[in-house]
This record gives sequence, C-alpha cells and structure tokens, in this order.
Amino acid sequence: MKEITKIAPARGKLGILIPGMGAVTTTFIAGVEAIRRGLAKPIGSVTQLATIRLGKRTDGRSPLIQDFVPLAGLDDLVFGTWDIFEDTCFEAAQRAGVLEAPLLDKLRDPLSAIRPMKAVFDQEFVKRITGPNVKDKGTKMDKAEMLMEDIRNFRESSGAARLAMIWCGSTEVFHKAAAVHQTLKDFECGLMKDDPEISPSQIYAYAALKSGVPYANGAPHLTVDTPAMMELARERELPICGKDFKTGQTFMKTLIAPGLKSRMLGVSGWFSTNILGNRDGEVLDDPGSFKSKEETKLSALEQILQPDLYPDLYKNIYHKVRINYYPPRGDAKEGWDNIDIFGWLGYPMQIKIDFLCRDSILAAPLVLDLVLFMDLAQRAGMRGVQEWLSFYFKGPMTAPGLYPEHDIFIQLMKLKNTLRWMQGEDLITHLGQEYYD
Ligand SMILES: NC(=O)c1ccc[n+]([C@@H]2O[C@H](COP(=O)([O-])OP(=O)(O)OC[C@H]3O[C@@H](n4cnc5c(N)ncnc54)[C@H](O)[C@@H]3O)[C@@H](O)[C@H]2O)c1
Repeated sequence: MKEITKIAPARGKLGILIPGMGAVTTTFIAGVEAIRRGLAKPIGSVTQLATIRLGKRTDGRSPLIQDFVPLAGLDDLVFGTWDIFEDTCFEAAQRAGVLEAPLLDKLRDPLSAIRPMKAVFDQEFVKRITGPNVKDKGTKMDKAEMLMEDIRNFRESSGAARLAMIWCGSTEVFHKAAAVHQTLKDFECGLMKDDPEISPSQIYAYAALKSGVPYANGAPHLTVDTPAMMELARERELPICGKDFKTGQTFMKTLIAPGLKSRMLGVSGWFSTNILGNRDGEVLDDPGSFKSKEETKLSALEQILQPDLYPDLYKNIYHKVRINYYPPRGDAKEGWDNIDIFGWLGYPMQIKIDFLCRDSILAAPLVLDLVLFMDLAQRAGMRGVQEWLSFYFKGPMTAPGLYPEHDIFIQLMKLKNTLRWMQGEDLITHLGQEYYD
C-alpha cells in the first residue's frame, strides 16, 4: 500500500468540467452559487456538513471533514460544461424545472455567464435526443483533441489551478468492453479509425486523463471501467471513479437491505418501479439506455445480500426493476418498492416504500462531494480506481476481480477511514474493548 506522505494544499481555483448540462448539472451549479451567497445551506453534502470522529469516543475530537482534510472551498470553484444544446446554465436550469423561479432569478447573472462548449455526441449511443451544439467534423481522435483544446482554453480563461471532470450527461446505451478497450494502444488506434465501439463519454474521459484531469462517471454506462482507461489513469497518476450516482431508489435499497441481512431476515422478492418525467427519464425510455441502468440497479442487491453465503435467505429472490417515463411528474420522481420478506419459521411479511423524491436535489450534493474528493485524492497522489468513493455510486468500480462493496454503512466507514489514513490518524474499528479494561 502506497503511503501518503504529504497532501498538496488546495491553493488557487478548482475548475469543474462537466459533460452534460441538464437537470443535475444546473441544480449543482445553481446550488453552489446560492450557498456562496448565503441563500441556502449545503444539505446532503458530506464534505460540507459531516464530522469525522478521531481517536477514542472519550477524546471528544470530531472536526468537520472540511476542517480535517484540505478541500477546495466553494468560493474557489469555477465551472465549464459541454452540451448538445446551446442554452446557458440559466436557461437550462429553467428548462429542467427543478429549482423555483424566485431562487433562479437571484442567480441569473452567474448562471447566464455559463455557456456550454460544443459537445462530442453520437446518436448511436443516446437515441432519444439530438441537438445543434456539437463537434461534427473529424475522426474520434480529432474530437478528443478538440476536447483537449477546450480543456486548455478553459484552464486559461478561468485561471483554474487544478481541474476535475465529472460526467453528468445522458446515459449511453449498454455495451460491454470490446477489443478496442483492452489496452491504451488499442484504444488510441480505435480513436483514429473511428471504431464504432468507442462512445462519446469515453472520448471525454480520454481527453480528461490525457490532460491530467481526474474523471468521475455519474452515469451507469461503460467509460473509465475498462483496462485501457485504467492503464491511462495509472500512467498519468490520476484518480478515476464511478459509476452511476446512488440516489433515489437504489439509495433506499442500500439502506434497507443491509438492515434485513444484519438480522438474518429472508427476502423472497423485491419489486421496484419508478415514474419520472425529466429528460433523463426520456433517455431511459430507450431500451439500450435502460439496460445500462438496469445492470447497476440490479447488482446492488445481489452483492449486499450474498445469496451464495446465505442460500436459505436469499437464493430464490425475485428482483425486478422498472423505470417508466411519465412527463407530468418532471424531475419529481416517485419510486415504489414492494419487498416480500420472511422471518422466524419462514412466516412471510411485507414492506412497502413510496419515496416521493427529487432526483437532482439528491444528486447535486453528490456531484459536489465527488469533485472535491477527487481533487483531494489527486493532491494526495492517489491514482487509479478510488474505491473509497463507492459510497456515492450504484455500481462502484473496483480493482479487476474484486467484488464491489454496496452496503452504504460499510462504504461510509471506508470513506472516513481513508480520510483518517490520509492524515495519519488511527483507523476506527469500533471494537471498543479499551473502554472496559
Ligand atoms: N438525478 C439522479 O438522481 C441521477 C442518479 C444517477 C445517475 N444519474 C445520471 O446522471 C446523468 C444526468 O442526469 P440528468 O437528470 O441531469 O439528465 P438530463 O437529461 O437532464 O441532462 C443530461 C444532459 O446531457 C446532455 N448530453 C447528452 N449527451 C451528451 C454528450 N455526449 N456531450 C455533452 N452533453 C450531452 C443532454 O443534452 C442533457 O442536457 C444521467 O446519465 C443520469 O442517468 C442521475
């Protein structure tokens, strides 16, 4: 294990680069602008609100995480985005319909100043939308170079000392790693030959890593979770993480399932269905994009319940996930879960959850935490997959051959212990014997 010797200070501005300026991105940026102006509090953000216990329970040391590790401050963030639509961040936020007009009006100036750069887009990967603001000439390699130029220009014009990229664009169709994703050399040849297996999000990730920028994937599709991208991240000493923000229904699932398992209660069925009416819902109405989502949504439960270790409790679970596009609801999603469980002597019981959530309100603080922690990881010299950030994802990336940890409480412990380890503090095991000696 590599020792952290010194974390470079968070000096200067941190540029946040975001492909996709829809509901999540605009809610994130508007939120940061509102918080900076004292109009709101950063509710839902671990970097801004959570504390971390250090030492024994009797020591009374529980600083805020942001006072314990050197994170970039909200006043130091600057934003650069790409989108296939030309709307400014203000217009896109209005269109997304998440935040109310009186708040947006107060933020009109900073949001109107953010105009998306021309996107790298391919309708083979996102079927339901099309827009005018795209880079339409050249090979995939030419497009990667254009993105690198965008990154250079943004760095100069914004005066950012450091950058981090996070994908908040639409979910691309499901596809598996192909021959072109196996090595960096294969991938670069594929870019030059316009290989159809290379998606736009992979071109952004390549451009980011080549430019020395860490990359986080907020969507469920294949991007940095390929051998080629992992090789590039290691070679450039850059952190990567993903994938698919853990909000809404899967967040609920990873709260409830570990609890049932902790008491050795059985589960025979888990039926999850959603209605949502935002653009994300429209994209997910396409079976290819839904398949990307379904994969990350289904895997969480299986990994938490471990049916191989507990066949009597979980071997025959019937798990179904549905997403239904229903325009009247906009961003206000409703997610229903019916959970059929069984207890002592096999007696059946049921749990019903009806979560009236707001997708982007749940996702925005995750974007903030991820970019701040990715920047921290880079300054600490941590490269490759950042498993400690699994806490934020439905489909956490891990080293090849290692199963991901989905239990949110274990994920949080891993995150906090990583911060303790970075700062040379004792890890907390929760053994507690020392109090009774
Ligand atoms: N909101 C949540 O709770 C949540 C949770 C998990 C994952 N996600 C994922 O986050 C992503 C963003 O969600 P959203 O609700 O903001 O969606 P959205 O549809 O409102 O915004 C996505 C934006 O990406 C743009 N886009 C698509 N392809 C692009 C490309 N190649 N380059 C640049 N821009 C591109 C679209 O034009 C759109 O403006 C989606 O992939 C979604 O599945 C969201």
